Amino acid sequence: MIQVTNLNKRFKKNHVLRDLNLELNQPGITALLGPNGSGKTTLVKSILGLVITDTGQILYDSKETKGQFLYRHQISYLPQIARFPENLTGRELLQLMKSIRPNPVKEEMLLNLFELHKELDKKMSEMSGGTKQKFNLVLCFMYDAPTIILDEPSTGLDPLALIALKAYLIEEKKKGKQILLITHILNLVEELADNVVFILDGKIYYQGGIKELIEKQQVQNLEIAIANILRTDAANS
Ligand SMILES: Nc1ncnc2c1ncn2[C@@H]1O[C@H](COP(=O)(O)OP(=O)(O)OP(=O)(O)O)[C@@H](O)[C@H]1O
Ligand SMILES: [Mg+2]
Repeated sequence: MIQVTNLNKRFKKNHVLRDLNLELNQPGITALLGPNGSGKTTLVKSILGLVITDTGQILYDSKETKGQFLYRHQISYLPQIARFPENLTGRELLQLMKSIRPNPVKEEMLLNLFELHKELDKKMSEMSGGTKQKFNLVLCFMYDAPTIILDEPSTGLDPLALIALKAYLIEEKKKGKQILLITHILNLVEELADNVVFILDGKIYYQGGIKELIEKQQVQNLEIAIANILRTDAANS
């Protein structure tokens, strides 16, 4: 469904993505892992056309994405940092979104899921960080696309909201959706992900099962496997 070939992206002298190749063609949940600053957000923004890459190719459903925008209707995207107009209430934010893109398929269900009815008349500037993140999630999920890309969805969520998010993602996975999940929370990866992709030094260092990654590193669990990779990388750089 998503095919990235020889992708390069530099921010001035900072060569972030280096001939990166990645194929995501199975439904289910893939966790995209990698240290801070390794290019995860840059990669997913490139897939969405929000970052203009230097060279390389990105295909969605076998079609070139460069210069295109309609393919984005097939992708629900949760940005890592949501910046909403501060003076709008939650209700007005949702109305604004619906005026741009009518007919959400499941607004009410999502407001119930994240217990947001009581927050609808609060201004964004007055909301707690976790509540803003819940609105971020509602905006992401309400149009029901076949591909879901989530950049650190658990940020700021309390345990109840996290349980709701996990249950929601498991239901979406059952419907055959393709979900790309960026997170540093390894419990979440172990609980949810079918596969992991590990990005390091601008390339894909590993793509495959969690069990196989742990075995490759010859350690007991995912946390130690990831820490080992990061320590080895730091020692070599
Ligand atoms: N708009 C930008 N202008 C200049 N440099 C940028 C920009 N966006 C990202 N970078 C740089 O690109 C590199 C990759 O950043 P990116 O945000 O993709 O990392 P990340 O893997 O998502 O990290 P994190 O885990 O902290 O979210 C970093 O060195 C960052 O400073
Ligand atoms: Mg990021």
